[in-house]
Amino acid sequence: MKKIIVTGGAGFIGINVAYALLKKKDNFVIIYDNLSRAGTEKNLEWISSFNFPNLQFIKGDVRDYKKLKEVVKNSNEIYHLAAQVAVTKSVEDPIEDFKINAEGTLYLLEACRLKCPDAIFIFSSTNKVYGDLSHLKIKEGKKRYFLVNKKNGISEDENLDFHSPYGNSKGVADQYVRDYYRIYGLKTVVFRQSCIYGPHQYGNEDQGWVAHFVIKSILNEKINIYGDGKQVRDILEVSDLIKAYILAVKKIELCKGEIFNIGGGVKNTFSLCELIEYLEKTLNRKIEVEFFDWRPGDQKVFISNNKKLETKTGWKPEIDKEKGLKRLINWVKRNINIIKELK
Ligand SMILES: NC(=O)c1ccc[n+]([C@@H]2O[C@H](COP(=O)([O-])OP(=O)(O)OC[C@H]3O[C@@H](n4cnc5c(N)ncnc54)[C@H](O)[C@@H]3O)[C@@H](O)[C@H]2O)c1
Repeated sequence: MKKIIVTGGAGFIGINVAYALLKKKDNFVIIYDNLSRAGTEKNLEWISSFNFPNLQFIKGDVRDYKKLKEVVKNSNEIYHLAAQVAVTKSVEDPIEDFKINAEGTLYLLEACRLKCPDAIFIFSSTNKVYGDLSHLKIKEGKKRYFLVNKKNGISEDENLDFHSPYGNSKGVADQYVRDYYRIYGLKTVVFRQSCIYGPHQYGNEDQGWVAHFVIKSILNEKINIYGDGKQVRDILEVSDLIKAYILAVKKIELCKGEIFNIGGGVKNTFSLCELIEYLEKTLNRKIEVEFFDWRPGDQKVFISNNKKLETKTGWKPEIDKEKGLKRLINWVKRNINIIKELK
């Protein structure tokens, strides 16, 4: 039996990862989470309802080095998703953000080096490590910005430019994860993720904007937009992200020590205003919007160039934005009472 740890496994991406892994009977999955994010208890209730015999939940913090060493002992795979995830919160409390994202990741790497050096280590990094990309040539359209030169999106060759405490703490972690491959031979893979969305995402104004917009629209509440709303993101449905994680594990000899950008790519982009328009049409209602100042480090356009990952593993996003949004809208509608309860 494979011993698998999912840190942050009660969160949005984590619960989807755990569920996908639990379908294989010879995977023993440990969710390690401190339940600090609203909605995590609901996610745990949901996954517990399947009565998987191969699931264990451990309430724990990634800042607890001693506990991490006990938990990861003899593990085969680690999916490190636990994090302080909001740029806004990182600005309010940069020290806590650093301790969770940078120190916590280093503790986990070190625990793995000492207790399970052969384990595969998958890390969820972020496109925020590239900063605000203000040096790129950008064209302003009526409803969105366009990249003038990088038509296929941003690749891993882009310079690192940590911007915001969150960008810094995740960037530090990203570099440590990669370096543990070079220095200690740990089989690490870094995914620099664009916006991920899907079921079990209790998105709020600070993080998880696609789910947040869907929730606000369904509740008929006003949406605050920071900036002019023309900023563009590529969005990736969570099950496509999980397919990439699983492929990287399968092809670990090709993927270890590598860093991959991953997102919905050129075909799956929205500006904030375009998503609002799309939701107005789909839900058949007018959505009230108010504009505020830009947030620090916000990119005018981020579109992931997925070519490197595709070349190494054959991965491509399979769920287009319309299909993915339909799935998310249905999940929000089914869970609207829980969502109201959490507000
Ligand atoms: N969702 C996205 O669009 C996106 C994009 C880029 C990167 N990421 C990264 O993906 C990972 C998962 O993000 P998510 O969207 O599922 O967010 P999430 O907030 O739903 O999940 C994070 C989980 O980590 C847990 N956690 C927080 N601090 C912890 C600590 N100190 N110890 C243990 N557990 C702790 C939370 O309780 C939560 O369950 C994060 O590392 C995030 O930086 C997400």
